[in-house]
Amino acid sequence: MAIVGIVAVDRQNAIGRAGKMPWHYKSDLRFFREQTTGHACVMGYRTWLSLGEVPLPNRLNLVLSRQFHLTAQRSVIFLPHESKVLALQEHFRSDLFIIGGAEIYATFSQDIDKWIVTEIPITIQDADKFMPEDFLQNFSPYDTRQLEEDLRVTFYRRDGQETS
Ligand SMILES: NC(=O)c1ccc[n+]([C@@H]2O[C@H](COP(=O)([O-])OP(=O)(O)OC[C@H]3O[C@@H](n4cnc5c(N)ncnc54)[C@H](OP(=O)(O)O)[C@@H]3O)[C@@H](O)[C@H]2O)c1
Repeated sequence: MAIVGIVAVDRQNAIGRAGKMPWHYKSDLRFFREQTTGHACVMGYRTWLSLGEVPLPNRLNLVLSRQFHLTAQRSVIFLPHESKVLALQEHFRSDLFIIGGAEIYATFSQDIDKWIVTEIPITIQDADKFMPEDFLQNFSPYDTRQLEEDLRVTFYRRDGQETS
C-alpha cells in the first residue's frame, strides 16, 4: 500500500499561519475527503489541534505526539514515534496519507511514494509554516485535476516507481 503525502501550498510553498490553514476552498476540502476517506491519515499534534481535536470521519486518525497523557478514542490512535506508524502500516490494506503539518511532512519525506499537491493561487502574508523548496525533488507529475478555474491539483510519484 502506498504512502501518500497530501498538501495544499500557496505560491511560495506556505502551508500554515498561526496554527491554521490560511485559506478556505470548499472544493479542496471535498477533494481531500474524497482522496482520504477509507484510508489511514497521519498528522502531527498541532494539526490535530487545528481540527479541534475532532477525528476525520471514516478514516483511521493516527496522531503523532510525544505527550504521554493522551488516550485513544474512537478512530484515533496517538503514537509517540514515526516508527510506530510505519510498523502499523505493514498491517494496512488501505493507503497511508501523510496529512501534515510541516514537521510531519518532513519526518516522512523519505517514505512518501506519492504527493498530491493542491496549488493555492494566492500568496499568504505572514505565513509561518512552509514546505521545503525541494520537496518534489525526485518526483515527477503524472496527473492533474482542475478543482476550480484557477485551483489545480497535481499528482506526483517518486521517480523509478511505476505503480500509479
Ligand atoms: N496546507 C496544508 O495542506 C496543511 C496540512 C496540515 C497542516 N497544515 C498547517 O500546518 C501547521 C501545523 O504544522 P506544524 O509543523 O506546526 O505541526 P504538526 O506537524 O502538525 O505537529 C507537530 C507536533 O507533532 C508531534 N510530532 C512531530 N514529530 C513527531 C515525531 N517524530 N514523533 C512524535 N511526535 C511528533 C509533536 O507533538 P507534541 O508537541 O505533542 O509532542 C509536535 O509538536 C498548521 O498551521 C496547520 O494548519 C497545513
